[in-house]
This record gives sequence, C-alpha cells and structure tokens, in this order.
Amino acid sequence: MKQSLAIVTGAGRGIGKAIAQRLKEDGFHLLIADLDAKAGAQAALELDARFVKCNVGEENSVVQLFKAADKTGLSIDVVVNNAGIIRDGVIWKLDSRDFDLVINVNLRGTWLMCREAAIRMRQQGFGHIINIASRAWLGNPGQTNYSASKAGVIGLTRALALELAGKGVSVNAVAPGLIDTPMTQNLPEQVRQKLINSQPGKNMGSAKDVAEAVAFLASEKNRFITGQVIHVDGGKSIGSLAF
Ligand code: NAI
Repeated sequence: MKQSLAIVTGAGRGIGKAIAQRLKEDGFHLLIADLDAKAGAQAALELDARFVKCNVGEENSVVQLFKAADKTGLSIDVVVNNAGIIRDGVIWKLDSRDFDLVINVNLRGTWLMCREAAIRMRQQGFGHIINIASRAWLGNPGQTNYSASKAGVIGLTRALALELAGKGVSVNAVAPGLIDTPMTQNLPEQVRQKLINSQPGKNMGSAKDVAEAVAFLASEKNRFITGQVIHVDGGKSIGSLAF
C-alpha cells in the first residue's frame, strides 16, 4: 500500500478522534492537530499518530502544521477539517466576539486548511478533502453564528470541488446531526433532551457513525463523488416529522 498520510484537525477528542481511529484502521498514517495540547498528545499516543498543536484559526499555525506534514515525507492524501466550536445564544444576546470567534475557527480555519491542502494535492494529482460541516447549516435557532459558519463551509466545499475537479482531488462535506460527544454532553440536560426529542428517531448518533462516512469519502472507493454534502443525522435534515 502507498504510504499515505491523513491529517485530522480537532482529533484530540469527539468526532475528530473517532475519524482518526477509523482512518488508522484503513491503513493511513496519522497526523493529529488540536488546539488542546494535552488531549491531542494523549490521542496521538493512543492512535500511534504524530501530533502537532495547531490553532486552525491562525494562518501561521496552519502553515506550520503542513510544514510538519511535509517533513514526514509521506503523501498528504487525506485532510479532514473537523475542528469546530460553538458559542450559542439568540442573536440579541450574542456579543459580536462570539460571531468572530466561531467564523474564525469554523470557516476561516477550514479555508486556511483547504488552501494548504489544495497547494499540495493539485501538485501530486491526488487527494481527498473532507470538511466537517453540520446539519445546522440549514438553520438552527440560537446558532446564527454557527449556522452561518457551517453554511460557509459548504459553499467553500462546493467552490473548491470545482477548482480541483480536474486535478484528481475530491472535496466533500459531511454534515453531522446530533452526535454524542463532549460538545453535546456539555449542553444543559434540558436542551439535550429537547434536541433528542426533535430527532425523527428520538436518538443521537455516535462519533463512529460520522467516521464511517468520512472513511468512505477518503477511500479509493470514492472516485466520482465531489462537492457533495452527506448528512449523518438520523434523517433530521429531511425536515418533516416522523410518524
Ligand atoms: P468537541 O468539542 O468534542 O471536539 C472539538 C475538538 O476540536 C477539541 O479537541 C478541540 O480542542 C478542538 N479545537 C477547537 N478549536 C480548535 C482550533 N481553533 N484549532 C484546532 N483544534 C480546535 O466537538 P465535536 O462534537 O467532536 O465536533 C467536531 C466537529 O463536528 C465540529 O466541527 C462540530 O462543529 C461538528 N459537529 C458536531 C456535532 C455534534 O453533535 N457533536 C453536530 C454537527 C457538527
């Protein structure tokens, strides 16, 4: 097998860690990037991965991450842009800093990562970029900042898919719905229950459910899918109520 490197951001815990684990099972070498040095280093130890502390919202930090990836001498075949944050609240209670922060990490961070990935992948004539969006891109009350950031990620995904279509590089988005991770475990219990009850199947997904979709898009099996959004959300994005 080719010596392929997969970079996964925000892989210190939650969905990113599950994605890294799943890609490892498929034989990829791993480079884990996370803002949280402790969690990232621990995940890297568990997954026998390389770790680079990185803030995806900072240009120089992203450039350094890719320099570290270049140094491995491996082919950067997969980049999963998973790092993301929430700062929820109805718009009349939000500070503009909550908007800037969420846009900076979720959208600008994904764009910075995509640019470094694109520079390398178009040159090598191969690669898969997978951006982790959210079902919230369709609109969620209390998440004007987050929904805007994730809708932006989908626009970015579609535009970049066109730019790289003739270069052997796919660019897709995976949009998770309600997934059981520290991000959702930290929500007030009342809010969590409300969200579960609003699911068509009254259930939550697991980080592994998301990882399976990412693994397919990152695999050799994905030859002809690009610019798409795969919802992993138990049907929530359909919009109608179940029986
Ligand atoms: P999480 O909060 O459990 O983990 C996020 C990880 O990203 C953490 O390890 C954190 O340290 C890291 N991170 C945060 N800011 C960073 C930055 N600036 N640079 C580098 N790393 C950073 O989140 P979770 O639930 O695993 O979410 C992962 C992705 O999936 C996010 O993009 C999130 O928006 C998305 N998502 C999650 C859903 C859920 O229900 N948990 C639903 C839909 C989307």
